[in-house]
Amino acid sequence: MEPEYAFTAEELARIAEIRRRYPTARAALMPVLWMAQEKFGWLSREVIELVAQTLSLNPAEVYGVATFYTMYHTQACGRYVLDLCTCLSCQVLGAEDLLRHLEERLGVRDGQTTPDGLFTVRHTECLGACGSGPVLMINNRRYVHRLSQERLDQLIEELRQGRMPEFASIPLPERPWEQEASSDS
Ligand code: FES
Repeated sequence: MEPEYAFTAEELARIAEIRRRYPTARAALMPVLWMAQEKFGWLSREVIELVAQTLSLNPAEVYGVATFYTMYHTQACGRYVLDLCTCLSCQVLGAEDLLRHLEERLGVRDGQTTPDGLFTVRHTECLGACGSGPVLMINNRRYVHRLSQERLDQLIEELRQGRMPEFASIPLPERPWEQEASSDS
């Protein structure tokens, strides 16, 4: 029987390819941790040890990196990790109320996972998209901009059905000084 925590031959080949791109195993750690998280859902002690063993690193070193960055999950989390920005710009646009709404709707508190293992709700620091807030990030990847309560409800239903929201291109705010310059010419 296959061990519960193992990389497949294809994954090991991919790790070897990643490793070749970096001067040291330590430098290759972040993409390999990312791969492990994608595969196992979160970085348990067993997964940390697997990554350490695969890259011939000390597990404590791997654990240190995994716990330093918020994009790595070192606690069990749901299939969809919902990071809602509550930093200043999003907060002014109602992010705190949206967080409360999300908690009520899913029956969990900030930082918790729903009993069905589907959603983890977390507040987060600025996601760098302040011009289109309030902003929510799903699984470290997809951003949902200009959130409202209705959009949040719709999003939860879509995710329950396994549908990730489409990528949305958000135009940068207009730059009036450039418009003035072009109208002068
Ligand atoms: S304050 Fe929310 S994305 Fe920057």
